Amino acid sequence: MRPVTADFLEATRASYDAIAPAYTDRFSDWPADSPTLDRSLVTAFAELAREHAPAPVADLGSGPGSVTAHLHALDVPVFGVDISPRMVALARRAHPQLRFHVGSMTALDLPDETLGGILALYSVIHVPDDHLPRAFAEFHRVLRPGGHVLLAFQSGDTDDRTHLSERFGEEISLDCYWRTPDTMADALTKAGIRPQARVLREPLGEEKRPRAFLLARRAA
Ligand SMILES: C[S@@+](CC[C@H](N)C(=O)[O-])C[C@H]1O[C@@H](n2cnc3c(N)ncnc32)[C@H](O)[C@@H]1O
Repeated sequence: MRPVTADFLEATRASYDAIAPAYTDRFSDWPADSPTLDRSLVTAFAELAREHAPAPVADLGSGPGSVTAHLHALDVPVFGVDISPRMVALARRAHPQLRFHVGSMTALDLPDETLGGILALYSVIHVPDDHLPRAFAEFHRVLRPGGHVLLAFQSGDTDDRTHLSERFGEEISLDCYWRTPDTMADALTKAGIRPQARVLREPLGEEKRPRAFLLARRAA
């Protein structure tokens, strides 16, 4: 793995290591407990990604691995990458047939132009603005020409952020950066990944912010 030195990465890793078991208990029922629209968007992404098979999809920030496993069930060759070693251990235990490894989307240990697609659900939210261009440059580097990206993130005003010092009863130090679909689309475009479609849905249940889904494609 390439060296990962930035402080925010260490804070993110330590925070998700601390909450990994509780987070996994709470969120491992995807897709059963996910909104139909969210699931359908992932299914649409799966269809696009299958066009590049056997080139695999990377689920970046795979967490408990339940979405990774859903893509696998849809016949997508897929593996997970997560910055939290404890999350990776739990994902491997829950889905022993799948590959998960520790890594950061800001410095991927993957060769150039090898991925058929990238899924990043609610993980780019932990990358600060000044590191986002580097993350998306990595997406561009590892994607095959024509490969798709599906991002999901809570939509909010750019420059807005939340610092979490506690979650599931654990002491953590985790920053979440809220961005508009336009901001995210601009950042992808600058990296050479062209936005193709976007969905902004209203919050459901306990969700506090609208949910944005952005589909983009590296130029063929
Ligand atoms: C909110 S969880 C989402 C998990 C999963 N994508 C889902 O939707 O269920 C965010 C995940 O992204 C991971 N993460 C955060 N920053 C990362 C980075 N720079 N590289 C890789 N993974 C990261 C965290 O460890 C955590 O597992």
